[in-house]
Amino acid sequence: MISFAVDPLPNPRRVFMLGATGTIGRATVHALLARGHEVVCFVRPRNDAMTIPGATVRTGDVTDPASLARDGFRGEPFDAVVSCMASRTGAPRDAQAIDYQAHVNVLEAARQAGVGQFVLLSAICVQKPLLAFQQAKLTFEARLMGAGLTYSIVRPTAFFKSLSGQVARVQQGRPYLVFGDGRLTACKPISDADLGDYLAGCLDDESRWNKVLPIGGPGPAITPLDQAEHLFALLGRKPTIRRVPVALLDVIIGGLDVARRIVPSLADKAELARIGRYYATESMLVLDPATGRYDADATPSTGNETLFDYYAELIRGEAAAERGDHAVF
Ligand SMILES: NC(=O)c1ccc[n+]([C@@H]2O[C@H](COP(=O)([O-])OP(=O)(O)OC[C@H]3O[C@@H](n4cnc5c(N)ncnc54)[C@H](OP(=O)(O)O)[C@@H]3O)[C@@H](O)[C@H]2O)c1
Repeated sequence: MISFAVDPLPNPRRVFMLGATGTIGRATVHALLARGHEVVCFVRPRNDAMTIPGATVRTGDVTDPASLARDGFRGEPFDAVVSCMASRTGAPRDAQAIDYQAHVNVLEAARQAGVGQFVLLSAICVQKPLLAFQQAKLTFEARLMGAGLTYSIVRPTAFFKSLSGQVARVQQGRPYLVFGDGRLTACKPISDADLGDYLAGCLDDESRWNKVLPIGGPGPAITPLDQAEHLFALLGRKPTIRRVPVALLDVIIGGLDVARRIVPSLADKAELARIGRYYATESMLVLDPATGRYDADATPSTGNETLFDYYAELIRGEAAAERGDHAVF
């Protein structure tokens, strides 16, 4: 349940919203409305039955500039674009089409509509870009920075949904799986509502303008082993943790890379395996370019909802787990 105790602002804006049907997009629309902004959501035609109380929903195709102008902006004035839109698969073609090209289309349409501000949901992992979707995001980030609009590029750490995929299996009595010793990576998880609120706040908080903003949730950085131990503690059970060698992912990636030469459709599966390996071995924290190390202290925090409170809600049945896009388990 998302609720905000934010007083509506004296200067509400007219916001063109993308990705309103996604995890963070939904939370961001709530946060924008709670602040008193007028929100027009542009969604795919397959979502045409969707209603968002307090917001306007329009349908069209972000990959088609004509549809964006005709069905989305409709020649009307808007103050800001907020985008939580992202490729659902992370596969190279989809990432290029949505994370890059569709955003370029939106930026062009926004400029023609006189929009002065653009808030973009990106990802902290683009600071070490090894994957196709990260390159697509980075290329658009650069384009946005050079476009002359006031921008806020928000690069969050890990979402709760991406760290909750094992709650149900552990509840069923199965072991928690970790890569290596469970301490290969760390992150400062951020809740949907805290991130939505942070994104909405970018419209008014001048300290977030024309900046790239890495952001995590409250509390110290946690490892997969920490997650496992807290989960078992909440369930009142002795931890049973199974260690999975990262080399297993390398074998899978190697096999898929060979197989895709014969069956090209396996290329996306190989990229998904690479995405899995990336998250198994790279922390979602600010990367210090001087040392090449991830730095928890340099990773800013916002909000007050913790992953372990969320685990407790899942266990009590007060929240429903959503699968992460690139969940490995
Ligand atoms: N998972 C993590 O831990 C994590 C951490 C940091 C950053 N991120 C970043 O956060 C973003 C994902 O956020 P999320 O989990 O809220 O995303 P999500 O739930 O997957 O939602 C994606 C949104 O983009 C829309 N979209 C995708 N393809 C589209 C298309 N062809 N046309 C129109 N709309 C389209 C979706 O609309 P439909 O409902 O119509 O598909 C949906 O509204 C990604 O950029 C990811 O890299 C993720």
